[in-house]
Amino acid sequence: MSTDLIQLIKQRRSIRRFQDKPVEKEIIEEILQAGRYAPSAHNRQPWRFIVIINKEYIQELSRKVKEEIKSLLRKKIGKPRELKNRENQVFLASIAYSEEDKVFFDAPVLILILTDDELFSVESCACCAQNMMLAAYSLGLGSCWIGLANILNLNKKHLEEIGVPEGYHIVAAIILGYPAEKTEKLPIRKLGDILKWID
Ligand SMILES: Cc1cc2nc3c(=O)[nH]c(=O)nc-3n(C[C@H](O)[C@H](O)[C@H](O)COP(=O)(O)O)c2cc1C
Repeated sequence: MSTDLIQLIKQRRSIRRFQDKPVEKEIIEEILQAGRYAPSAHNRQPWRFIVIINKEYIQELSRKVKEEIKSLLRKKIGKPRELKNRENQVFLASIAYSEEDKVFFDAPVLILILTDDELFSVESCACCAQNMMLAAYSLGLGSCWIGLANILNLNKKHLEEIGVPEGYHIVAAIILGYPAEKTEKLPIRKLGDILKWID
């Protein structure tokens, strides 16, 4: 592995503020190519991509995510385990009731990575997503994985509207754009408590 790549891996940060500037299609295509070269179990390449470069549509999806969050928060029973935690509820409410787009952060590009329910599809797609975020960074773009977008999977109607094929779901949503923020200080990275050597 070249030291350049290691530097790239260490320097990439999630970006949530973007310039009001479209991203060239050729650049997006290059990022998709990097995703396609990711390893995948049995080389099955279980990913499909939907690339959205229409900002209004991205904002509409953001509103849909917010509505789904609100409806989950209102539910008295059948809440996912994570939503029984008060801290998570407050955090999600701050996103869902904000006037600002705290879901996709007004990004000019949203790439949805779709997959099926086969073994290791999710893991393979995570490799694909990371390749894309590193490629984006190397091309001067900012990116962020938006896990909140997966909430759209809860409502089949949303998936149909977006054009997700039958048997597929959103496994990763990556926003892209030219950064309007300096990369922040490195968020704390664990080391001691996650590592055990066996000699
Ligand atoms: C699976 C996954 C889901 C994430 N979901 C969100 C999200 O919904 N919203 C968000 O702002 N950031 C999200 N992030 C970004 C993380 O907050 C970020 O990667 C983490 O804080 C470390 O910061 P860094 O990416 O700058 O190194 C997600 C990251 C991953 C890997």
